[in-house]
Amino acid sequence: MKLLLLGSGGREHALAWKIAQSPKIEKLYIAPGNAGTREVGENVAIKADDFEGIKQFVTAHGIDMVVVGPEDPLVKGVYDFFKNDDALKQVPVIGPSKAGAVLEGSKEFAKGFMQRHHIPTAGYKSVTAANLEEGLAFLETLEAPYVLKADGLCAGKGVLILPTLEEAKKELKEMLGGMFGNASATVVIEKFLSGIECSVFVLTDGKNYKILPEAKDYKRIGEGDKGLNTGGMGSVSPVPFADAEWMKKVEDRIIRPTVEGLAAEGIDYKGFIFFGLINVKGEPMVIEYNVRMGDPETESVMLRIKSDLVDLFEGVAQGNLNEKTLEIDPRSAVCVMLVSGGYPEAYEKGFPMTGIEEAKAGGSIVFHAGTALKDGQVVTAGGRVIAVSSYGANKAEALAQSFQNAGKICFEKNISVQISGLTCNTCLPEIDFNMNWPPEGLLFR
Ligand code: AMP
Ligand code: GLY
Repeated sequence: MKLLLLGSGGREHALAWKIAQSPKIEKLYIAPGNAGTREVGENVAIKADDFEGIKQFVTAHGIDMVVVGPEDPLVKGVYDFFKNDDALKQVPVIGPSKAGAVLEGSKEFAKGFMQRHHIPTAGYKSVTAANLEEGLAFLETLEAPYVLKADGLCAGKGVLILPTLEEAKKELKEMLGGMFGNASATVVIEKFLSGIECSVFVLTDGKNYKILPEAKDYKRIGEGDKGLNTGGMGSVSPVPFADAEWMKKVEDRIIRPTVEGLAAEGIDYKGFIFFGLINVKGEPMVIEYNVRMGDPETESVMLRIKSDLVDLFEGVAQGNLNEKTLEIDPRSAVCVMLVSGGYPEAYEKGFPMTGIEEAKAGGSIVFHAGTALKDGQVVTAGGRVIAVSSYGANKAEALAQSFQNAGKICFEKNISVQISGLTCNTCLPEIDFNMNWPPEGLLFR
């Protein structure tokens, strides 16, 4: 099979790594990919949302399947683009239709969907400029902190959590006034939920589903869950509190009603569903839906899937996912992200990197997130640069392995590593060890 994977981040490198292991794969292309994906397939210089470019490539190269990594092409309707084109409709796209992608593309839709299907989630009110007064009155019924969510996609930045009522009211007005452009023309005000988060993933053919290994990501830049939010500093799988009893609640109350709800509403959905959950006193509740895999969760989840992922994708495409097996590796997997100095605020890029092969030789799997090739040399090309993933008999062992190998990777102005007795590479003499490392929670809640 010739498979085209869309996307260019750490998630896509992890997916490509797993896809390339399938004996069914004759050729794997990644559009556009990064400096890491070229190790497991061939990069193609087409943007993931350039549908015409993708069409030309798919027809010219006889592509048999397209797998979509990020949400953007899905929300823009890549699935429907294929389905409605005579030259493309035979090529399965792993990812939901545009109508399904609205689960991520509109917070208001997602909340309404959960309400219609009795799926546990925080109480909410949806507000526009036309009913601002109702929104302000709703805020007064809530207790601090206050959660405001832009309805539309904001590259992960559209959620504000405000400590006081005054700030919540002020920010609500600013959001409706265009803080996130059109994406915040509607704002969802939510009751704040307190608990530990967990990411649960399923692959569905629209009727049947397989529950992939769950994971937890760590979003804050600083040690001790402090500091600014990032795109994700690391992840672990499995998640200790997501035991069989908790996962049964998740399946009965959340996963099955979601898959059945999508079908009942006539929504064509063949792909990943990412349930962003929170554990509220032992009860799982939905914080958000995403219509793709998580990043950096994929960089640990892929390590734990023993079965052939492409075989599962075929089950999704053919609607017989129930006939496929999903075998999960019992070991723990951890991903640790190396980031550029300054991230998530201003940072520089273009620095040559060394030590990647040494990190691999040390037993870790290295996934590129923000890298590029310049004159044959791998250079930094983003805030989150590279993920170092490892197996272990338990998470502490996997983490120690990742830290040890992360320390071998060096680039100017990186945030380097000093953890629990291991002193690793410091590329800058003035490095502030308290600043970014280790990612909170990887030293564990
Ligand atoms: P989202 O983009 O919906 O995932 O929200 C971003 C982050 O905000 C989540 O990962 C949570 O940490 C937090 N968050 C969102 N909604 C709530 C809520 N209702 N209660 C508490 N925290 C929330
Ligand atoms: N790790 C969270 C996300 O991918 O949205």
